Amino acid sequence: MLNGPKKIIVFASGSGSNAEQIILQAQACAWAKVSAVYCNNPTAGVIQRAERLGVPVRLFENQQLNDTEFVLAWLQQDAPDLIILAGFLRKIPEFIIRAFSRSIVNIHPAILPDFGGKGMYGMHVHKAVKASGAEKTGITIHYVNAAYDEGDIIFQAETRVSSDDQPEDIARKVQELEHEHFAPVVLNLLKQDTHGQ
Ligand code: GAR
Repeated sequence: MLNGPKKIIVFASGSGSNAEQIILQAQACAWAKVSAVYCNNPTAGVIQRAERLGVPVRLFENQQLNDTEFVLAWLQQDAPDLIILAGFLRKIPEFIIRAFSRSIVNIHPAILPDFGGKGMYGMHVHKAVKASGAEKTGITIHYVNAAYDEGDIIFQAETRVSSDDQPEDIARKVQELEHEHFAPVVLNLLKQDTHGQ
């Protein structure tokens, strides 16, 4: 660890329960840390979670994400090894994807390619799963490319949906899978990277 811990930056727009898991599990190992949370929503729960855990928050407005001199400049300064989208509900502009090629990872609350694409986030996904009558759903962790939810898949896990399950029940089952798998998958990616160098 000559160069210090591997740096993760988490982008989040909402409650931040996944961001919290990633922060805690990185804090538990010496070789990785969440160096900042980037947030586009001043009322997001993730802000309090990050502050409670001693992680700095960089708050920005949506148009600043698309300004090459703003969020991109912060990222270049912070120099993360991995950028994690944990419930970040805006599209990452192509100039950021190009600058951090294959270093941006998203979690989607369904088994892609089903229930993905523009407008498919949070409860919209779980309501669509319910409406379709699908018997299973799950999570997909994938690299981010220029198209919504179409980057290479890193990991998927499934859970059963019963006909009694309401969208809120589906959301709870999916969140359990997210909390079980997301942080370990992220840390494992960084570890492989560490060992590969
Ligand atoms: C998670 O379920 C995540 O999969 C979803 O937002 C939620 C954030 O929860 N992301 C998307 O829908 C992206 N398309 P959290 O704020 O408690 O981590």
